[in-house]
Amino acid sequence: MEIIILETSAQVAERGAQIVCELVRKQPDSVLGLATGSTPMALYERLIEKHKTNGVSFSSVTTFNLDEYVGLDPQHPQSYRYFMNKNLFEHIDIKPQNTHIPPGNLDNPLAAGPQYEDQIRQAGGIDLQILGIGANGHIGFNEPTSSLGSRTRIKTLTKKTIDDNSRFFAQDEFQPYLAVTMGIATIMESKRIILLATGWKKAEAVAETVEGPVCALCPASALQWHPCTSMILDTAAASLLKHTAYYKFVLNEQDRLVERFGDPR
Ligand code: PGA
Repeated sequence: MEIIILETSAQVAERGAQIVCELVRKQPDSVLGLATGSTPMALYERLIEKHKTNGVSFSSVTTFNLDEYVGLDPQHPQSYRYFMNKNLFEHIDIKPQNTHIPPGNLDNPLAAGPQYEDQIRQAGGIDLQILGIGANGHIGFNEPTSSLGSRTRIKTLTKKTIDDNSRFFAQDEFQPYLAVTMGIATIMESKRIILLATGWKKAEAVAETVEGPVCALCPASALQWHPCTSMILDTAAASLLKHTAYYKFVLNEQDRLVERFGDPR
């Protein structure tokens, strides 16, 4: 794991956006895995800005989102389709037909997982997956105790996640408690992963992910097995890590190598 610790959440978003744009420039038909939530929003703002001012084009890019609620219409303001349209897709030159969100409104929601996995496979797999992390260590909606070998499927949300997300729903409104989410094994097949985490609330989950055991109680810890994952953290999210001096030393050495030989990623 590459551990990148930056001063501010704005720097985290900028670093994430730079990695996305470098890939899209190098490989215009990249397949991106996208996340929703408050953390990636600042990254998406920067992608929009880089599209408008630096000419970064997404016209040949394909995207797959991590997850979607079951039982919400795509037009519902809390659906992740709506979130992605409003916060990214409508502001860049991506083709709407190239954007994929797991189908949360099928007559048979159990069919959603295999269908989505097929689509990812047909697109050639995910080149770069963007992740946030839940305060409980979830990635996508893979809640604690999710199988580390799981594929895209229906997942029942924990009370903690339902409570964390209740702020987005009116008091008397239906709040979904099921979601379709890429599985952990699905995420692990991405060629490269960047996980963004900011703020104190994420510090414990980040420490468990990086320095704890690989364990289904902290689903993000599975990333220890991924050969090309970068954790991009602000100082608050990194505050419970024990080996920060070593991570900085590693990065310095890596920068020297990249300067000399180029970045193989
Ligand atoms: P957040 O959610 O970015 O809104 O904190 C992250 C997640 O739950 O994966």
